[in-house]
Amino acid sequence: MNKYFLDLGYQPLANKFLKKYKKKQNKYKLKLYFNTKNKLVSISKRIPSEKMFDNKYPYRSSMSLTMRESFKKLSKEIKKKFRPKLMLEIGSNDGALIKNFKKENVIGIEPCKNLARHTKNKGFVTYDNYWNFKLSKKLKSKHGEFDLIYSANTLTHISNLKEVFISIKHLLSKNGILIIEDPSLIECLKKTSYDQFYNEHIYLFSAISLKNILKEFNLEIFDIKNLKTHGGSLRYYIKRKNNKKFNQTLRLKDQFKREFKYGLDKLQTFKNFASKSYKSKIKLINILRKIKRMKKKVLGYGATAKAVTILNYCNINEDLIYNFTDTTPDKINKFMPGKNIKILKYKKKILNKYDYVFLGAWNFKNEILKKEKRFKKRGGKFITHVPYPRLF
Ligand code: TMP
Repeated sequence: MNKYFLDLGYQPLANKFLKKYKKKQNKYKLKLYFNTKNKLVSISKRIPSEKMFDNKYPYRSSMSLTMRESFKKLSKEIKKKFRPKLMLEIGSNDGALIKNFKKENVIGIEPCKNLARHTKNKGFVTYDNYWNFKLSKKLKSKHGEFDLIYSANTLTHISNLKEVFISIKHLLSKNGILIIEDPSLIECLKKTSYDQFYNEHIYLFSAISLKNILKEFNLEIFDIKNLKTHGGSLRYYIKRKNNKKFNQTLRLKDQFKREFKYGLDKLQTFKNFASKSYKSKIKLINILRKIKRMKKKVLGYGATAKAVTILNYCNINEDLIYNFTDTTPDKINKFMPGKNIKILKYKKKILNKYDYVFLGAWNFKNEILKKEKRFKKRGGKFITHVPYPRLF
């Protein structure tokens, strides 16, 4: 049932930024599969959550204006449309969403203790545990049922999807709403952004595959929104099947139509994506090599997990991208996983020392271009690999 379609080579843990470059960092084969029955795309190798989401997890959602604004907008919508008395966020990170709610109305789950601390310190009830049935039972006995459960970029990071949804159903009130948000498979394919895959992203949902999965739990999607975040995400609005309060929206029907038309239910579509990814790799390497021959220097902008996939799949080393820069405190002065490329602290003037900037955080392109107008004015050029490798 699971058919192989793309090999992204050996990849280190995408968020393990090391203080010292180690030539021998643990790497794991990253192969992608398509399930011909439920149409779910997944990676083969499953790394235990404890190895990836520990007390040093560096990614912070509130580090970018785009994400802060997206969560603020969503919180307004939730309050207006669903008015939850009690809401749960699974994977609350540093609180970018829950800080928009009253403390008595929201509970966060965040297994990375360094992140959970941010919301705990601000007085929000936060459980620093992994999402599983045991935790769900504990929450029910302490707080009762929840009328809204939200999770962004988290459920696809958990290997046992069956336990994920059983645990959610256990806590969701009769008319409760589940909202989940994750990168969109169709957008990933359209943009040839093979870098959406790394060891944390075990699954990449489409509306088609999620519908098939939810069926087993008597849950169903009733609405969907296309978002610009994370390079194109989908926000799914889900309810119990017997909740007749909400009907399937036109937007959702359109999404299904679009996905079927693009072929998200066919293995061949993924085989085509694999060959496009390989061509994208060759083109990007050629661009970087040409710049190297001109003796110009490239800076990577945004030390993202996505960039880790690119560097290791394309075997890009410091001769092609000299440094990265990032605003996240826990990434600064460390090395890009698997590569001897140092991450420097972001300062406005840092770009002055480079001729080219490679967009590691291409999903924040607009935010970055707005911030770095001076670089372009003085003749600096950006490099991106989406939707195809090019300079601009
Ligand atoms: P993400 O693509 O996984 O959300 O990660 C974005 C990374 O890029 C995160 O480490 C923060 C970093 N970043 C900057 O350093 N400067 C910026 O202006 C933006 C938007 C992001």
